[in-house]
Parts: sequence; structure tokens; C-alpha cells
Amino acid sequence: SLPNTFDRPVHIAVIGGTGLGKIDGYMPIASLTPTTPWGAPSSPILILEHGGVPIAFLARHGLHHQLAPHEVPARANIAALRSLGVRTIIAFSAVGSLQEEIKPMDFVIPDQIIDRTKGIRPFTFFEGGVVGHVGFADPFDAGLSAIVQKCADSMKGDGVVLHTGGTIICMEGPQFSTRAESNMYRSWGGSVINMSALPEAKLAREAELAYQMICMATDYDCWHTTEDVDVAMVMKYMAANSQNAKHLVGAVLDELCKQDNSDLVLAKQWEGSAQGAVKFM
Ligand code: ADE
Repeated sequence: SLPNTFDRPVHIAVIGGTGLGKIDGYMPIASLTPTTPWGAPSSPILILEHGGVPIAFLARHGLHHQLAPHEVPARANIAALRSLGVRTIIAFSAVGSLQEEIKPMDFVIPDQIIDRTKGIRPFTFFEGGVVGHVGFADPFDAGLSAIVQKCADSMKGDGVVLHTGGTIICMEGPQFSTRAESNMYRSWGGSVINMSALPEAKLAREAELAYQMICMATDYDCWHTTEDVDVAMVMKYMAANSQNAKHLVGAVLDELCKQDNSDLVLAKQWEGSAQGAVKFM
């Protein structure tokens, strides 16, 4: 079994979503179970070695996919990664498509989010005497999205379709949308829909981490068909596409590892906003 301690800072993390419960091809060197003031993360954090650079991997829904989207301990997840030294997070998510041209199995790198969670998930580190406000006008990190874009471009020959930019609707769930809601989101300009972008992205911003979500379309949501979205459909497309997802994550990690210790990976982008107000360990 793997050691449960690791004595170097880890700068880069991957949060795996539905269908990306692990990443192959990297040497696991430790399995950490940190606790935080916000409880334990979704799963043990696996430390993977990649060309000498350590990478943290966290399964958002738990090792056995036992956590529903509204049950994911997002504050513990972000705080635990932060406490390891993480500065950059690539987060994967299965999404429904709200646009004809975004087909199941396509990848999307969103640049905007609309919050349709219900305010019932714990969504901030700033409370209980710690007052802070962070900008969230551009919820994702531009430098990171440029890297993902470059890596996906290099995979285009393999039939990988990537859409750059777009708005992700993050709904509460766990039920899927009604047809009226789905059509309303389309009228708002939504590109894709999931249940996991928030509060994760907000908490990453509060913790001053560069964060980009990579979405994989698994269905057309219910606006498109006369049928319901169902989990079997989501899982079928995820399984069919997991090779591409793994190649993409591999390419992105290669690029990030090359830049480990560079300003891009280590940048404290939001310095001055709320830095230092929260102790993450
Ligand atoms: N995740 C995958 N497909 C989805 C959909 N249609 N709505 C919300 N979350 C999803």
C-alpha cells in the first residue's frame, strides 16, 4: 500500500468527475487523507508522479461514486488541495449540451457560469467572522484555458472536437431539468449544463487557485428530444469517451508539468482580494 505522507509541495491538481474516477499511466506515489476545518475531502488524494513532478488527483464523487453533486464536500476538497500547496486545478465534468453544435462526446472549455444552485450547498470560506469578497466576473483562469486549448488542438486529428468558450449552467439537481427550464437556459445563452461547477469554482477563487473546468458532453439535455435524460445515457457516452478524456488530461498535465514552478502554475492571481484571511490547514 502507498505511503500516507508526502513531503514536497504539490502545485498541480486534477479533480475527476463522473467517468474520470482515476487517471492511468502515472505512477501513484502516495495516498493522502488530509482533514480540514471543513471536514474530509470526497476521497483520499492520490499523489501521482509525472516526469518528476507530483500531481494531486481527487475523485469529486468519491472512490465509489457515492456522493451526489449536492453532497460533495467542496470546501474540504479545495482546502485540502490548497493545504498540499496546490495552485492550479483542472476539473473535469460530464455535462448536458444546450446547443445543437455541441454533440455528445465533444469537449467544451467554458469561460462563464450561471449559478442555478439553490444556495443550500456551503459555498464560501468567508463567514463566521472572516469577511472577504472576491471578484468572479471571469470565473475561470485565462492562462489555464489557453493551455487546455493548445493541448486539445494537438489532438484534433484523433477526432477530438473541442469548443472554446461558452457558458455553463450549474443547476442544483440531483433531478435533471424540466423541458421548460432547459429551453429557458438556451434562451439565456447557456452552452452546457451540469451540477458540479459550483461552488467548486467559487471556492477555488476564494482560495486563490487558478481553476479551469473541462466539460465532456454526455447528452443533449431534454430540450433536444422527446425523451428524458437518463443516467445510462450519460454513462454510455462517458465510457465511450474516457480514452479521449484521458489523452487530454495527459496532454494538459505534460504541459503544466513543463511549467511547474513557472509563474503560470504558481501565480497568485487574485493577490490582494482576500489573501491570508482564511487558514486552510
Ligand atoms: N450532467 C450530465 N448531463 C447533464 C444534464 N443534462 N443536466 C445536468 N447535469 C448533467
